[in-house]
Amino acid sequence: MAETVAHVVGARPNFMKAAPVIRALEARGIAQTVIHTGQHYDAAMSDVFFRDLGLPEPDLNLGVGSGSQASQTAALMIALERAFGDLRPALAVVYGDINSTLAASLVASKIGLPMAHVEAGLRSFDDTMPEETNRRVTDLLSDLLFVTSPEGVDNLRAVGVPAARIHLVGNPMIDTLLANLSRFDPDRMRAELGLASGPYAVATLHRPANVDTPEAASRLVAMIDGVTELVPLVLPLHPRGRPTLEAAGLSASDRLRVIEPLGYVDFISLVRGAALVVTDSGGIQEETTILGVPCLTVRPNTERPITISHGTNRLVEPDAVVPLAREVLERGIRRPAEGPPLWDGRAGDRIAGIVEAWLRERTGGPAVPAATGAGTGGA
Ligand code: UD1
Repeated sequence: MAETVAHVVGARPNFMKAAPVIRALEARGIAQTVIHTGQHYDAAMSDVFFRDLGLPEPDLNLGVGSGSQASQTAALMIALERAFGDLRPALAVVYGDINSTLAASLVASKIGLPMAHVEAGLRSFDDTMPEETNRRVTDLLSDLLFVTSPEGVDNLRAVGVPAARIHLVGNPMIDTLLANLSRFDPDRMRAELGLASGPYAVATLHRPANVDTPEAASRLVAMIDGVTELVPLVLPLHPRGRPTLEAAGLSASDRLRVIEPLGYVDFISLVRGAALVVTDSGGIQEETTILGVPCLTVRPNTERPITISHGTNRLVEPDAVVPLAREVLERGIRRPAEGPPLWDGRAGDRIAGIVEAWLRERTGGPAVPAATGAGTGGA
C-alpha cells in the first residue's frame, strides 16, 4: 500500500498553512488524505477557505464541533483515533496550535503514528492561552518539527528537542499570501462594503482573554469606539465574541461596520487597503508584516516576536490602542528593511522535500536531499 500522509486540519488558520504543503506533496506524487475535524463548521469559518484556496474536499469530516476545552479535545481525540485506525497513514501532519492539533498529536503519539508539526517552536510563554499548552505538547510529541522563524529553533532546543528533528523552513501561511497577491483587491472590498474614500481600519477580536468576560468585552468596546472616532472601522466578527461584545454595547454605525467573518481573499483584500489593523489574531500579525500594513496587537505578549523585530506589529493594552492608533495614522509605522528570513513563498516546497526524504528513508529507499537545502534548523 502507498505510504499516505494524513493532514489534520480543523479551524480557520489551519487551512492557509496546509494548502501549500498539500500542493507541494502532490507535485511530488505523494499520496495524501485530508482529515477535517470539524472544529470550525460554519460555512464562513471553513468552507469558504477550501474554495478560496483551491483545497481538495476533505476525505473525512469528523464533525466534532464546539465545546469546552476538555470536552472538545476529548471528542477530537476519540474521532481521530478512529480515523487514524481506518486510514493507517505513514505520517500525520498537524498545523499550528489549535485544539485539533493537540488532539491529533496526543492520539498519534499513543498509537505510534509518526507526526510532523507545521509551525513548531512558537511560544508566547503565556500559560493562560489554551494555544500555549497545545504548542508545548505538540512539539514534544512530534518527529518532524517545521519552524517558521529562528527563535522557534531556540525555543525547541531549550526544551530538549533533538536538533535532527528541527527544520527551519519558513512560513507556509506566507506562501499562501504571496501566491494569491494578485487576487487581493482592496478597491473591490471598498465598493462592496460601501466605504467612502480615505483611510479605514480593520479589527478582528476573538481571544478568550479579550472577549469571554463582560469586563474584558467592555474594555474592547470602549477601545473600538475610540478607534472609530479616529477612522472608519470594519469589524468582521468571529462568532465567539459576538454575544459578549454586543452585551457590552457594541453597536454598528456608519463609521463602524460590524460584518460576518470574511473568506480568505475578501479578508486579505480588506487588510491590504487598510491604514491600520487592530487584532488579537496570530496569523494576521504575520500577514500585515508582509503586506506592510501597521498592526496593533491587543495582547500582552506574542508567540510571533519576529513580526515586531522584522515587521509592522506592536503589542498594546486595550486602553493604549487609541493614542497609538492616532500616532500610526498620522505617521505610519517604521518598517524594518529586512522581513523575516525564509518568508519567501517556498516553505511548502521545503516541507515536502523533507517529508519525501523521511518517507524514503522509512521504507528503506535512498534518502533524497531536502528540496532546497534551506537548512535544518537546530544544528
Ligand atoms: C480557535 C483556536 C484559536 C484560533 C481560532 C481561529 C483553539 C483553542 N483555539 O479559536 O487558536 O485563533 O480558532 O478562529 O483551538 N463557533 C461557531 N462556528 C464555528 C466555530 C466556532 O459559531 O464554525 C463559535 C462557537 O460558539 C464556539 C466558539 O465559536 O464555541 C469558539 O470556537 P472554538 O473552535 O472552540 O475556538 P475559537 O475561539 O474559534
